[in-house]
Amino acid sequence: MMNNRDRWRVYKKVSVMFLLAVLALTVVQRGSINMGTAFEIERQARMDTSEGAELGEKSDSYLGLKGFWKASKHQPQPKTRATTQGPRITENSSPRTWDVTSSNCSANLNLTSQDWFKSLEDTFKQFMLYRHCRYFPMLLNHPERCTGDIYLLMVIKSVATQHDRREVIRKTWGKEQVLDGKRIKTLFLLGKPSNEVERANHQKLVEYEDYIYGDILQWDFLDSFFNLTLKETHFLKWFHIYCPSVRYVFKGDDDVFVSVENIFEFLESSNHDKNLFVGDVIFKAKPIRKKENKYYIPQALYNKTLYPPYAGGGGFLMDGTLARRLHWISDTVELYPIDDVFLGMCLEVLQVTPIKHNAFKTFGLVKNKNSKLNREPCFFKSMIVVHKLLPSDLMHMWNLVNSDLVCAQKVEIL
Ligand SMILES: *[C@@H]1O[C@H](CO)[C@@H](O)[C@H](O)[C@H]1NC(C)=O
Ligand SMILES: *[C@@H]1O[C@H](CO)[C@@H](O)[C@H](O)[C@H]1NC(C)=O
Ligand SMILES: *[C@@H]1O[C@H](CO)[C@@H](O)[C@H](O)[C@H]1NC(C)=O
Ligand SMILES: *[C@@H]1O[C@H](CO)[C@@H](O)[C@H](O)[C@H]1NC(C)=O
Repeated sequence: MMNNRDRWRVYKKVSVMFLLAVLALTVVQRGSINMGTAFEIERQARMDTSEGAELGEKSDSYLGLKGFWKASKHQPQPKTRATTQGPRITENSSPRTWDVTSSNCSANLNLTSQDWFKSLEDTFKQFMLYRHCRYFPMLLNHPERCTGDIYLLMVIKSVATQHDRREVIRKTWGKEQVLDGKRIKTLFLLGKPSNEVERANHQKLVEYEDYIYGDILQWDFLDSFFNLTLKETHFLKWFHIYCPSVRYVFKGDDDVFVSVENIFEFLESSNHDKNLFVGDVIFKAKPIRKKENKYYIPQALYNKTLYPPYAGGGGFLMDGTLARRLHWISDTVELYPIDDVFLGMCLEVLQVTPIKHNAFKTFGLVKNKNSKLNREPCFFKSMIVVHKLLPSDLMHMWNLVNSDLVCAQKVEIL
């Protein structure tokens, strides 16, 4: 068995080799990659990060690495075996393990004959054809991560390619620790890379990362923008099965700044009820009808004029009890392509109104990117979530906020 230091060294080496491979591939592919959606472009843009590291040295821990690649050459198997399969569970028969073992869900071709369907854009067609496919098997699972009393479970939406973001989060706000006798646990939520090249290059690396840290939950669905809602429902189901005693859940993106200290302060500042759901809530948002917009929704999919109140998916906090109720109810609500709106719809059915709190800034800080606030550590120090930072900026800001920072003027937000 390797110790952590060795593992880290090996991991670093793999990362370097991998980065070189990515670099080579990028060069080869440049020009041939068809960047379909805005989401793709965004992800592609975020891939170009690298960290300098030594290349020359070799050590025998490399042998352990080879063992890893050999041992897991086959398709990853779901770690839990199922006995039943049914997309909708009832309260009386809660499964004790992840009970979905087949990814075989075929397109609902009934739709193709309908006029409103024919008029949809391709991305929405794709969404509608598979909307009824609610649950997929697990590729990486960690039931042990949720045993015992956990005060705060932090779950972070990520995608296979974002190794560096996860790395920084593990070193900063996502660090697992016990604060005032209260346990904090962190997990990353992943689907499969939606493009084939990424799948080929990154899946092995994700598995290796998980072998080292054991903190990745991965499901067998494509990580696309419209499938983010699946990440929501899959997490809720997973939480319901494996997390009997988690007090609070923080759920967020992998490109945000989070202050766990302020989360604690907020949670302890008063008595919250079992329906606590707090974040950057917008009330009376209108569905976007401009086709160029990333969040465009055609009338055929949603014909009301307003959305229910919902919290920006960049980061929100909820009570564990509510998360369990959300799982039940989410099974009765039709999947919606925008994940945070979907959760708002579920809350509406539960008749829970999410709370807006100014320390959650998930819709951007200020419009002006050059604003001083974006670089003001005293501002970050007073926040719970701030959207959105590149890994290097996050690390930098984290160090500033956690240094002997003297804030002349305390920003009173909490
Ligand atoms: C997948 O489902 C289709 C249609 O329901 C069926 O014909 C096919 O045999 C299934 N494939 C597997 C591998 O189960
Ligand atoms: C398609 O239509 C058939 C017949 O009406 C129905 O049995 C089936 O459930 C429908 N498929 C889906 C995915 O809704
Ligand atoms: C979501 O993932 C499933 C399973 O991988 C896939 O069949 C479907 O096309 C995806 N949907 C979208 C809208 O990308
Ligand atoms: C809106 O959608 C609902 C459900 O899809 C449908 O019953 C209703 O007729 C639609 N209303 C309008 C004005 O299109």
